Amino acid sequence: MSETLQTHPGRKATRAGDMRAFAAVAARRMGVVGAVAPSSPALARALTAVVPTTGAPVVVELGPGTGPISEAIRSRLAPGSRQLAVEIDPGMVAHLRRAKPWLEVVHGDAADLGSLLAAQGVDRVDAVVSTLPWSLFSPEQQGRILGEVRRALHPAGAFTTVTYLHALPLARAAAFRRRLRASFDEVMTTWPVWRNVPPGLAYVCRRPVGHG
Ligand SMILES: C[S@@+](CC[C@H](N)C(=O)[O-])C[C@H]1O[C@@H](n2cnc3c(N)ncnc32)[C@H](O)[C@@H]1O
Repeated sequence: MSETLQTHPGRKATRAGDMRAFAAVAARRMGVVGAVAPSSPALARALTAVVPTTGAPVVVELGPGTGPISEAIRSRLAPGSRQLAVEIDPGMVAHLRRAKPWLEVVHGDAADLGSLLAAQGVDRVDAVVSTLPWSLFSPEQQGRILGEVRRALHPAGAFTTVTYLHALPLARAAAFRRRLRASFDEVMTTWPVWRNVPPGLAYVCRRPVGHG
C-alpha cells in the first residue's frame, strides 16, 4: 500500500518539503524505502562524481526517493543531457513530479530497467547512480537488477551505489560485494562519508562484464 503525497501545488520545492515527503513514505513503507533520512549532499557528491560534466550523456538514477541525488546529478549535467529516475513508490513519484518537474521520472521497478528505458526511447546509458536498499532484496532480485544495469550501461559507462558502514561486516554485504565484482571488471570504494545518516560509502563500478 502506498499513498499519494499531498504537496501544495503552488508551493516552491524546499529541502524541508522533501524531508516531510520522505518521512511520510518511510513511516509507512520502511520495507521498501530502507533508510531513515534522505541522503546528504556529501553522500550525493560521492555517488555522482561519475556523472560526466561535458557532452550530452544519458544518466539514470535508481530509487530517487525525494530527489537529493537527483539534484546533485542535475548540478553536473550540461544542457542537452538526459536525466531519468526510476522509482517504485507511487507517493515518491507523485512528489518528484510536482517538486522536480525537470526530472524524467519513470514509475517502475529497477528490475525492469531495460524495458522501462526502451519505453522512454533510451538505448544507451552513460551512468547509473543507485541508492536502492539492496539489503531488502533477495539474492535473485539483486542479481536481476545488476543484470539489467550491466545490459543498459555503455561499455565505458559507470555504475555507483551506496552501502552503509554499519552493514559492511555483515555476510549479506559481503555477498553483495561478490555479486558486484562478478558484474563489473572494476569495483572501487570511496572514502567513508561520515556526514550522512547513517555514514556510508559509494561503490564505483566500471566495465560491465559480458557486455554485448
Ligand atoms: C534508501 S531510499 C533512497 C532515496 C533517495 N535517493 C536518497 O538518497 O535519499 C531508496 C529508494 O528506492 C526506492 N526503491 C526501492 N525498491 C525499488 C525498486 N525495486 N525499484 C525502484 N525504486 C525502488 C524506494 O521507494 C526509495 O525511494
